[in-house]
Amino acid sequence: MEPAAATLTCWGAVLGTAVSLPLLLLAAAPYVRRYVAGGQCKSTAKLDGKVVIITGANTGIGKETARDLARRGARVIVACRDIAKGEAAASAIRAETGNQQVIVKKLDLADTKSIREFAENFLAEEKELHILINNAGVMLCPYSKTADGFEMHLGVNHLGHFLLTFLLLERLKQSAPARIVNVSSLAHHGGRIRFHDLHGTKVTANSLHPGSVYSELVRHSFVMTWLWKMFSFFLKTPWEGAQTSVYCAVAEELDSVTGQYFSDCQPAYVSPWGRDDETAKKLWSVSCELLGIQWD
Ligand SMILES: NC(=O)c1ccc[n+]([C@@H]2O[C@H](COP(=O)([O-])OP(=O)(O)OC[C@H]3O[C@@H](n4cnc5c(N)ncnc54)[C@H](OP(=O)(O)O)[C@@H]3O)[C@@H](O)[C@H]2O)c1
Repeated sequence: MEPAAATLTCWGAVLGTAVSLPLLLLAAAPYVRRYVAGGQCKSTAKLDGKVVIITGANTGIGKETARDLARRGARVIVACRDIAKGEAAASAIRAETGNQQVIVKKLDLADTKSIREFAENFLAEEKELHILINNAGVMLCPYSKTADGFEMHLGVNHLGHFLLTFLLLERLKQSAPARIVNVSSLAHHGGRIRFHDLHGTKVTANSLHPGSVYSELVRHSFVMTWLWKMFSFFLKTPWEGAQTSVYCAVAEELDSVTGQYFSDCQPAYVSPWGRDDETAKKLWSVSCELLGIQWD
C-alpha cells in the first residue's frame, strides 16, 4: 500500500473509533445503569397500623427507606441526631406520601444516654414496634470517641444499635411478628460479624449490604467524596440502595427467615469471619460488658 493510502486508512480507523466508541458507550449506558441499580423490592405489602423505627433516616438510604415505608402506610419514627435535618426530611416525606404519621425523634447513637432517653420515650409513647431498621452509620471519620469513650465507628455502627435493640427487644416481641433489619455492608468480608441469631422469639433479625450508594456516607474523606462524584454513574442512587432494606422489612417470603444476610434483595454470601460462632459470642459478651448490660 502507498504511504499516503496507509496514512488515510490509519486516520479512518482513528476517526471510526472516535465516533463509534462514544456511541457504543451511550448505547450501553442504560444496561450498565440497570446492572448497577441491583435488585428491587417487588412486594406490595401494606403497613397500615405498623410502627417502624429507622435510625439515620434524615438522609441517604434511611430517608429513602422511610419514604417507601411511609407510602405503605406505616407510622415511621425518623430517629436522628439532628432534629432540624430530620424535620426537613420528614416534612418532605409527609408532603409527598400524604402520610402524616412520619415523626422525628432525637437519637444520638454516639451517646448511650441519648439512646436510653430515646428508648424510654418511645416505650412510653408507643404501644407497639413492628420493624426496627438499624440503618445509621459513619465511615472513615477522623479518630474520635463517643460520649462514653468508644471509638466512633464501633460506638455508633455497632454498640449504639446493639444497645438500642436490647432496649426495644421486649416491645418487638410483644408486637410479633416483628423484624429487626441491620444495614451492614459488603465490608463485613474484611472481618465484621453478623448479628446474633434471635430464632424462636417470632422476632426475626436479618442484615444486608445496600450496595455502593451515592450518599453522604463518604463525607469524611476528601478522596472518597471526589471518587464518589466522578463515578456516581456506577453507584446506586439512595432509592436503589434502600431496596434491600425495604425488602428485608416487608417481603412476605421472609416472614420466618432470620439470621440471614442479603444483598440486591436476595440471600448473599457471608464471609467466614461473619459465620464464626465463637467470634460472634465473643463480640456479644464484649458488647454487653462495654455497655454494662446483661443480655443472654
Ligand atoms: N453508601 C454506601 O455505599 C454504603 C455501602 C455499604 C453500607 N452502607 C451503610 O448504609 C447505612 C446508611 O448509609 P448512607 O449511605 O445512607 O450514609 P449517609 O447518607 O451518610 O447517612 C447516614 C445516616 O446516619 C446518621 N448518623 C451518623 N451518625 C449518627 C449518630 N451518632 N446518631 C444518629 N445518627 C447518626 C446520619 O445523620 P447526620 O445526617 O446527622 O450525619 C445519617 O442520617 C450505613 O449504615 C452505611 O454503613 C452504605
